[in-house]
Amino acid sequence: PADLRVELGGLALANPVMPASGCFGPELADLMPVDVLGAVVTKTVFATARPGNRTHRITEVSHGMLNSVGIPSQGAAEFRRSGLGGYAALGAPVVVSIGGLSTAEYWRVADELAGAGHAALEVNVSCPNLERGGATLDTDPRAMSEVVAGVVARSSTPVLVKLSPQLQTIGDAAKAAADAGASAVTVCNSFPGLAVNPARREPELGNGTGGVSGPAVKPLALRLVWLAAQAVDIPVVGCGGIRSAADVAEFLVAGATAVQVGTATFAQPALMARIVAELPALAARLGVDRLADLIATLTTRP
Ligand code: DOR
Repeated sequence: PADLRVELGGLALANPVMPASGCFGPELADLMPVDVLGAVVTKTVFATARPGNRTHRITEVSHGMLNSVGIPSQGAAEFRRSGLGGYAALGAPVVVSIGGLSTAEYWRVADELAGAGHAALEVNVSCPNLERGGATLDTDPRAMSEVVAGVVARSSTPVLVKLSPQLQTIGDAAKAAADAGASAVTVCNSFPGLAVNPARREPELGNGTGGVSGPAVKPLALRLVWLAAQAVDIPVVGCGGIRSAADVAEFLVAGATAVQVGTATFAQPALMARIVAELPALAARLGVDRLADLIATLTTRP
């Protein structure tokens, strides 16, 4: 059978499949064997407890989903005290997503989690739904570099940085993250979008912030992954509309070393386990002994 292992800047994974942050909780273990995953990624953790946006928070859009959840969090200390929010018992390496509204808040989460037993951090600099007004930190490479460098300095684990889907600047953002010491970049968070409720003359969700995800964004995310992978030497984690092993192959060929599955898990909770089970057959079909041999193999002709 094919070798499914991949390496994410010092983080060795049994296979490249992990959930996207925020799309499942530890309760996923009731619905599928979680220890077959390469890793699990937690919901973004803030320094202090926060409620998130008012409900209703999720709506269906064409070929995807719009969310305006607003990162509810129990706060870093409680998250750590409760066995990393219940994720530590799942049997897969835990990647903790961290967030903040200021540089100091990001650093405080990193301090609170020092030595907590997680496998890596993923710095969320790209949430489209925060009180900052939808602005994401990675649109300001200097500010992002400061945040990331400080988190790296406080952490003994690899640090991933989750970027927003900015076509014109994704290469620069990925480079800034790499220069600040990131071990990998995750490409990408949800795409800023809007669902309109014409009867109420209001946004369908909350105050009008929202992020689009799912199959609608897959070709856009593939292009961003391709661009990011060409811009940096560190690994890229691909995320955007993945719902099959065939989709995983597309992301690996475009330049991803690992992938995150998000939206599809809402309707098909056991999907990730099925994708992992299909990877050996996928490798055989594509003629590689090691799945990693697919990574960044996209070629173009003049
Ligand atoms: O789409 C997203 N929604 N991305 C994030 O980073 C956070 C999340 C939320 O809680 O709103």
